[in-house]
Amino acid sequence: MQIIKCKDYEEASKVAGDIISDAIQEKPDIVLGLATGSSPIGIYQNLIEDYKNKKISFENVRTYNLDEYVGIDRDCPQSYYYFMNDHLFNHVNIKQENVHIPYATPKALEESCKKYSKELDKTVVDIQLLGIGANGHIGFNEPKTPFDQKTFIVQLTEKTREDNKRFFNTLEEVPSKAITMGIAEIMKAKKIVLIATGKNKAEAMKRLLSKEVTTDFPASALHLHQDVIVVTDEEALSLVND
Ligand code: F6R
Repeated sequence: MQIIKCKDYEEASKVAGDIISDAIQEKPDIVLGLATGSSPIGIYQNLIEDYKNKKISFENVRTYNLDEYVGIDRDCPQSYYYFMNDHLFNHVNIKQENVHIPYATPKALEESCKKYSKELDKTVVDIQLLGIGANGHIGFNEPKTPFDQKTFIVQLTEKTREDNKRFFNTLEEVPSKAITMGIAEIMKAKKIVLIATGKNKAEAMKRLLSKEVTTDFPASALHLHQDVIVVTDEEALSLVND
């Protein structure tokens, strides 16, 4: 696991954005695994900038997103489908058919998971972008999720719902379930780039960098992967002794 320590969110977004941008230049038909939430927004802004400056093209890029709430329509601003269009896809030349975002049909949850798992089985993600939850979740793999888990419907913890409340009007509106890529599918990516910045991530970074591997802290599975880059900042590392 390689750690890149940046000054702040802005610098971390540039560094992580450049890793992805360089990789797109090197392999124009790259397969990217993408995340939502606050952490990757700056990265997406950098990628849009590079696209506008004609440094990169998304014409042949394929993407697979990590997760999506259950019970929220795609046209709802809180859906991850909406988020991805709003923060990245609407601003670059990606082809709609190359975008994959899991969707769980409320009446066919099991089938929805199988369908996404099948799509992931057929592909190899070159770079998987991750954020990290305060409780160590990656995707929406909450603590205790087995490391061999494939796409499934997760019951979100109260901590995660509380953390994500900021995107909704009230806590009650935050869905209690989501569909998420499993840890096994995340770990299949050739390279993983995790971005963690700000003091809200300090406890999570302390735990991740303790190197203990346990299902109690899902991100610790990343210690079992050969090529992980953690792009982080001073605040997120404030509880880690040098
Ligand atoms: C989002 C996702 C989550 C987030 C995590 C951190 O697709 O999979 O694991 O990365 O909850 O969220 P932020 O970045 O909002 O702190």
